Amino acid sequence: MSVHKELKKVTTHSLREMKERGEKIAMLTAYDFSMARILDDAGIDILLVGDSASNVMAGHETTLPITLDQMIYHASSVVRAVKRALITVDLPFGSYQGNSKEALASTIRIMKESGAHAVKLEGGAEVIESIERILTAGVPVMGHLGLTPQSIYKFGTYTVRAKENDEAEQLKNDARLLEAAGCFALVLEKIPSKLAAEVAASVSIPVIGIGAGAGVDGQVLVMHDMLGITNDFSPRFLRRYLNLYDDIKGAVGNYISDVKNRDFPNQKEQY
Ligand code: KIV
Repeated sequence: MSVHKELKKVTTHSLREMKERGEKIAMLTAYDFSMARILDDAGIDILLVGDSASNVMAGHETTLPITLDQMIYHASSVVRAVKRALITVDLPFGSYQGNSKEALASTIRIMKESGAHAVKLEGGAEVIESIERILTAGVPVMGHLGLTPQSIYKFGTYTVRAKENDEAEQLKNDARLLEAAGCFALVLEKIPSKLAAEVAASVSIPVIGIGAGAGVDGQVLVMHDMLGITNDFSPRFLRRYLNLYDDIKGAVGNYISDVKNRDFPNQKEQY
């Protein structure tokens, strides 16, 4: 069966059905129109306008600097490209941690100004009130536990989370809270695969992993990493499907020499 010819739109409901019938969910990040069009045409289920745009699009070291306005700009570019995938947008650092009213106001801006379908935010018990308030406005929410990059200065490193019992128990409890609050899905980042599988089996909502092993309901990767546009980030969980850094560098090198050698444009490439 050709997945990308199936144009039925992905919804929070169809994602739940995928979990129920054991069909894995494929999710990638996207930040711009042209790439989002290709990923959607290929049949991706969820596109995440991740705050990783702060790293891969803007060149910041962390996800903290990206603003709500910048996220809305990326999200609206993705929305214009997509026909099938469910588009989820990260609430950026500083746009929801204050209180639930702030979280709802930021969410409403994203939904109204970009046309996206859902939001994602990081955290467990401490953000439950905000999640409930966003849900009262009818906006689907995706949770995010484990390594939560917006808290990098609290963690100190990007190493695997929840290896110790206390943190694992807290994560399991947070996952149950997020499900009970009404999240439609949950991202688990960089935690032991056994723990991630246990969480996925214990909740009825889809659990999407990044560096969380094979026992979850779906996988997400940062598009620039899996296509090899970035070449300086090689965690164990990353599978590179292309090596675009070298391919693009080679192509640009060929262009430069064609221009310098007066080979481009040729007779057929001009008016
Ligand atoms: O911003 C992002 O890319 C993410 C994924 C790593 C899940 O949150």
